[in-house]
Amino acid sequence: MKFDFTHKVVLVTGASKGIGKETAKRFAAAGALTCLVSRSEEALKTVADEIRSSGGQADVYALDVSSLAGFTEVVTQVVKTHGSVDILVNNAGVTKDNLIMRMKEEDWDKVINVNLKGIFNGIKAVTRPMMKAKHGRIINISSVVGLMGNAGQCNYAAAKAGIFGLTKAVARELASRSITVNAVAPGYIQTEMTEILNENVKQELMKNIPLGRLGTPEDVAHLVMFLASDEAAYITGQTYNVDGGMVMQ
Ligand SMILES: NC(=O)c1ccc[n+]([C@@H]2O[C@H](COP(=O)([O-])OP(=O)(O)OC[C@H]3O[C@@H](n4cnc5c(N)ncnc54)[C@H](OP(=O)(O)O)[C@@H]3O)[C@@H](O)[C@H]2O)c1
Repeated sequence: MKFDFTHKVVLVTGASKGIGKETAKRFAAAGALTCLVSRSEEALKTVADEIRSSGGQADVYALDVSSLAGFTEVVTQVVKTHGSVDILVNNAGVTKDNLIMRMKEEDWDKVINVNLKGIFNGIKAVTRPMMKAKHGRIINISSVVGLMGNAGQCNYAAAKAGIFGLTKAVARELASRSITVNAVAPGYIQTEMTEILNENVKQELMKNIPLGRLGTPEDVAHLVMFLASDEAAYITGQTYNVDGGMVMQ
């Protein structure tokens, strides 16, 4: 499917690298005005330069998504500059892994604040302008770990599972204004987040992936773009896995 996001304003969090960067670049290539969000302004500027040098449009907003005030300010700026936020991709995420016996309270709080509260913040910030526009697409990036659990990731699994409930509740609240809210649950995708896994672990993981390979950021971006498109207008409150068949529900 060839996507056309001309005149759409797309805000992607965690756009400095990995899945968010690839997603933002693909939206820009499909004509969208992309608003790139992460904590690192320098890294975002590099992505914005790449987008502009390919003829796309990109703005940069340095933000820690765990701040509601900060997120609200960014959305206010985007609406003031571009008139709307049509699509929000809540993608920023971190890991702070440890077994529960050893997990520090601060590592629990950090992961919940970025991976779950950060998504609440994004949704809350765009709700008013999207309701006014009677149109919107919100896509929340969760993880198959939120479905399966994973030893050493209780904070991450809890945050990612929380996204499913948040997505369904908000989908029900915003449906009457034609705003759809869906979640995407990637499996193991090749980014910096999974770079730390050694070759043996990757080979072990691969045994549980029927399609026999790790995913790429592009694999995730394609689904995000479909859910953001006009063609997905009748889909809301759902979760879709992009995991090579790892989890079959
Ligand atoms: N890779 C996988 O296998 C996989 C699997 C399932 C789900 N996911 C999910 O997919 C999303 C993207 O993962 P990825 O693999 O692309 O990770 P990544 O390469 O580590 O990128 C994470 C992105 O999030 C940003 N970020 C982190 N903390 C932030 C904060 N407090 N405020 C704003 N931005 C923040 C980072 O930018 P700065 O450092 O500049 O802030 C970066 O752009 C995450 O939610 C992750 O949990 C990934």
